[in-house]
Amino acid sequence: MKQSLTRRNALCFGAATSALTALPALADTTPSSMALPLKDLAAAKGLRFGTAIGMRMLADPRVRELTIRECNIIVPENELKLYVTHNNGPTEYNFKPADELLAFAETNHMAMRGHNLFWARDEYTPKWLKEYKFSSKAEAEKLLRDYIAAVAQHYGERLTSWDVVNETIDPKSGEVRENAFSRVLGMDTLRIAFEAAREHMPKMQLVYNDYMSWEAGNENHRKGVLKLLHWFRDNKVPIDALGVQSHIGNGFDLMAGQVNQWKDFLDEVVSLDLDLLITEFDVDDQTIPTSDIDKRDAIVATVGRLYLDQMFSYTQTKDVLCWGMDDKYSWLQGFTPRKDGLPLRPTPFDADFKPKPLYDAIAAAFKSAPER
Ligand code: G3I
Repeated sequence: MKQSLTRRNALCFGAATSALTALPALADTTPSSMALPLKDLAAAKGLRFGTAIGMRMLADPRVRELTIRECNIIVPENELKLYVTHNNGPTEYNFKPADELLAFAETNHMAMRGHNLFWARDEYTPKWLKEYKFSSKAEAEKLLRDYIAAVAQHYGERLTSWDVVNETIDPKSGEVRENAFSRVLGMDTLRIAFEAAREHMPKMQLVYNDYMSWEAGNENHRKGVLKLLHWFRDNKVPIDALGVQSHIGNGFDLMAGQVNQWKDFLDEVVSLDLDLLITEFDVDDQTIPTSDIDKRDAIVATVGRLYLDQMFSYTQTKDVLCWGMDDKYSWLQGFTPRKDGLPLRPTPFDADFKPKPLYDAIAAAFKSAPER
């Protein structure tokens, strides 16, 4: 998913800079007065706006205040992953951290989505499950169905939407990844997960979530996801939407035809009668080769605006969730540090919780979005 700072990326930065001057919408990058919260601007167009939030953020009153003011939907960053809810063997569950997040959501009249029922990658699978010796396919299927039934029994439909399967496509090859269940059940793993989710949560929005993106280098990933979505449809797998994670900005490759390729991808997704969700939006400024904060913020905002405008042009796009609202707690700080050692600035609010040009870009994108 990530690209390093190469000569090509440096050239792309030039392209992004010229894109910046070509775009009138963001000529003024002064942070806004935040007259209306983003959730209200979104609601005016039939969209929802929210963020991922984890226990470490919930402990910070500034994050709570910001989230309550700006968001009408949240998603736990890590607290509903198998390695938290079901880490200690087949009969033990831990819903405590996610319960606290759900209480926060319900108290403050926010919806909560679930992320995720099955992260189809060994590195995020609990040790006990990775090493489980299934004696038969039937046993593997039962374990998968029982786990989903247990989660559904705990939360019922207090959540509104679930990422049923997360990241099952290998970005390089475009093929379906192997995982603890697929080694026994093959592709049936995916069908069973969605079927069990539908069986136990009939009204739930069921989502396949992945990080295929618009940047160059994502071609096989996009192809693989499209093939999977067609397979879901051909096999009558109950799926309602594609979660487009939207961790963008790694190459700032604005002028290299990716916008058109991204359009082709989205056209094909919606032709399968699927909704689109922006589930994990942020704009990584790791490779922007300047330490000037104003310039970096302006480029991040411009790229974000271009992207959101394109996503919102599809009325199938219903929810937008940032993967963190502020730079202080962004996962990217540890994941893709800048070479100059400066903190990243990938989210709408800075580390002091002040709005940045990306905040205005999101607000402007909502204002110009068609209604749905
Ligand atoms: O819980 C330990 C804590 O005890 C310890 O002090 C701390 C030290 O670094 O690590 C803590 O766990 C980390 C956890 O985040 C909480 O911060 C894990 O090591 C770390 O692997 C985990 O990373 C998360 C990652 O998913 C893996 O689950 C990130 O926060 C989270 O932002 C990231 O989210 C993913 C989405 O689920 C799927 N899409 C991509 C996205 C970004 O990678």
